[in-house]
Amino acid sequence: MAAGTGTLPADSVRAMFDRIAGVYDVMNTVMTAGLHHQWRSRAVDLARVGPGTRALDVATGTGDLAIELASRGGDVVGSDFSEGMLERARSKAPGLTWEQADALALPYPDDTFDAATVGFGARNFSDLPRGLSEMARVVRPGGRVVILEITTPSKPPLSTFFSLWFDRVVPLLGRFDEAYTYLPSSVKRFPRPPELARELAEAGCDEVGWIVTAGGIIALHHGTVA
Ligand SMILES: C[S@@+](CC[C@H](N)C(=O)[O-])C[C@H]1O[C@@H](n2cnc3c(N)ncnc32)[C@H](O)[C@@H]1O
Repeated sequence: MAAGTGTLPADSVRAMFDRIAGVYDVMNTVMTAGLHHQWRSRAVDLARVGPGTRALDVATGTGDLAIELASRGGDVVGSDFSEGMLERARSKAPGLTWEQADALALPYPDDTFDAATVGFGARNFSDLPRGLSEMARVVRPGGRVVILEITTPSKPPLSTFFSLWFDRVVPLLGRFDEAYTYLPSSVKRFPRPPELARELAEAGCDEVGWIVTAGGIIALHHGTVA
């Protein structure tokens, strides 16, 4: 497995996020022109959380999606396997519950939560079907699973810009850190929206749907646990 193929062993992914934790939020804001907050807000709408509900944000990183979930009034747990990322999350929102956990083996009993979300994390799972099944397992029947992820646009002009940016510019930065080689490759090898929807259904969700936004570069998948 190598950064250029968009697949890395779990240990390398964790080490990479530990390493970039300090600049992650700034990079996110710069790369999305701050729009990621809007996308998170839409993801949280789809998770249908509110006062009296419990939600889990898997691969929570520096915690922005968990913080958005908590702003709607629910009880929120953010979990991630990178202590470096979690440290940032804790400093941003000390009142939330932050736990170190592997998304592929979540340490929660079945049906613990009303919703589980993952933002820009599913692309990094070394076993996507297992990660999705774990999210569905810990959510009660009738609860929600939501995936926010970068996707490859299929129509110009964004498809042209995207391939220029990802194929020419970002790989140059790979000289400084393999994270920049890994990012475009991991987006390219990630399933397109219809295939990801199938995988979400196979993981145990009904009523699966998706929204593509931001000119075709962001996909929000959602399903209800059967
Ligand atoms: C691109 S960041 C996304 C962070 C955050 N969810 C957000 O919306 O900005 C991906 C995160 O997934 C985490 N991650 C990747 N694979 C994981 C796994 N198997 N278990 C737990 N966390 C994982 C990484 O540590 C990293 O914090």
